[in-house]
Amino acid sequence: MSIINLIAIDGPAASGKSTLAELIAKKLNYFFFDTGVMYRAVTLAALDNVTDLDNESLVTEVANRIQIDVQPASKQDGRVMDILVDGKDITWQIRTPEVDHNVSKVSAYAGVRKAMTDQQRRIGERGNMVMVGRDIGTVVFPDAKHKIYLEASPEERARRRYVEVQKRGESISYEDILTSIRKRDDLDSSRAVAPLKPADDAYVIDSDGKTIDVVLQEALQILGKPVS
Ligand code: DC
Repeated sequence: MSIINLIAIDGPAASGKSTLAELIAKKLNYFFFDTGVMYRAVTLAALDNVTDLDNESLVTEVANRIQIDVQPASKQDGRVMDILVDGKDITWQIRTPEVDHNVSKVSAYAGVRKAMTDQQRRIGERGNMVMVGRDIGTVVFPDAKHKIYLEASPEERARRRYVEVQKRGESISYEDILTSIRKRDDLDSSRAVAPLKPADDAYVIDSDGKTIDVVLQEALQILGKPVS
């Protein structure tokens, strides 16, 4: 497998991967694809259809059964794209604290990961794509031409997420967000299958205390693109 025009961007929850990826995609006229939405969609469908999320085989069945689609944004309500499950718009439903709370458990299941990884590879083979996740550079596309791993401290990430949820009018405290981010970091990096970690050949960018513009310039330099 040799993917020429795929940029893999991995990193922990709320590190700014999607914002960076969107800007790079716009600049290069690439397609932006955030794989986290797929794990969130499976989690939402599992919450709706399975009484016990500890039941790995039932959750995996859900992952194999549902059809996840990503389409250009149909509304101007802050969304970057529409996320559909079996034709139903679930763009904002996958961002609730309940999904946040359960998504690391669901995404640790080997069968769920296999189903999602297969779909991501099929999508990525189109090329000209910035693909965002936790394991894109390590597992999904280890031959991606460019790999960036974006880091930031849990406190900085919680602050950013807090600003985001406030803008959407949701009431959740900074402390709860920080606790949830720490828990997800632990689960995402300690799972047996495709744990969160930088690929050996990834460029690591620490975004603490940097504006998104500074991070973008750093990324474009890594990608060897003109920075103006
Ligand atoms: O990036 P995010 O917060 O939307 O991701 C949601 C969850 O999905 C995250 O806790 C880990 C999981 N995930 C994953 O395991 N592998 C990916 N490629 C993308 C996301």
